[in-house]
Amino acid sequence: MSSDPSAHATPEAAPYGSAPSRASSEPRKPLTLHRLRAMREAGEKVAVLTAYDAASASLLDAAGVDCLLVGDSLGMVMQGHASTLPVTLEQMVYHTQCVARGNRSAWLIADLPFGSYQGGIEQAVASSVALMRAGAQMIKLEGGGWTAPLIAALVERGIPVCAHLGLTPQSVHALGGYRIQGRDAQSADTLRRHAAEVGAAGAAMLVLELVPSDLAAQISADYPGITIGIGAGVRTHGQVLVLHDMLDITRGPKPRFVRNFMQGAPSLLDAVRGYVEAVKQGAFPDEAVHGYTA
Ligand code: KIV
Repeated sequence: MSSDPSAHATPEAAPYGSAPSRASSEPRKPLTLHRLRAMREAGEKVAVLTAYDAASASLLDAAGVDCLLVGDSLGMVMQGHASTLPVTLEQMVYHTQCVARGNRSAWLIADLPFGSYQGGIEQAVASSVALMRAGAQMIKLEGGGWTAPLIAALVERGIPVCAHLGLTPQSVHALGGYRIQGRDAQSADTLRRHAAEVGAAGAAMLVLELVPSDLAAQISADYPGITIGIGAGVRTHGQVLVLHDMLDITRGPKPRFVRNFMQGAPSLLDAVRGYVEAVKQGAFPDEAVHGYTA
């Protein structure tokens, strides 16, 4: 028998909450692209939230979030910048590694940051490889028809792609601010065309940000993959929010499409579970409160 008293001591929790718990009572099967496609076919909504670190990734995974997005919104949320433009590929790799360590079963998407793919196919492939090596299972890039050749090249090389249309924050200066896109007939047509182009190029997922609900519904009906809305109404195949917005951690005015899921929730886990449930039931977003018209 050991004479060392510490050998029998009750183990303390690791300092700084460093070890994400893997002892979930009922481990769910890891999400796959195949499963996500089946969800679309079955009409089951896909619940997505952003994650930037291991602890929140572990919590979101335990709460049943389908996909974690390591968004370049981390430039604003984590780093305090006024836009996503300063975020570097190295920072995205670091945060993707952190999230991958905390995650067990959610599908992990990582953003290609500004300047890491605008240079062309070769740069887009190299940047995506870095994110996939860091633990991503899919990369996301912003932009319309000009991204189609990049998407096709990535998909050919075995890298699943999520496109992003509507309000594309990396183009905030060209767009003249964070404003609703596709409100008039001409810009709605352009958006529909861009969606058809990125879909034909093989983007298995498409984020639609800040677009009128009817337009998002039309695009979703025609899209060959899974559409995920943010400020795009309830008729997309899934929803995404920035974690810190829906937990009401971020200060200052929030976009109308955000709901505070901490309100009335006894814990962070309950708040995130509430989000997943509301998305699955089609109760969030509420068209009257969170939707936009043309
Ligand atoms: O960077 C991000 O978090 C995003 C989501 C808001 C869709 O792109």
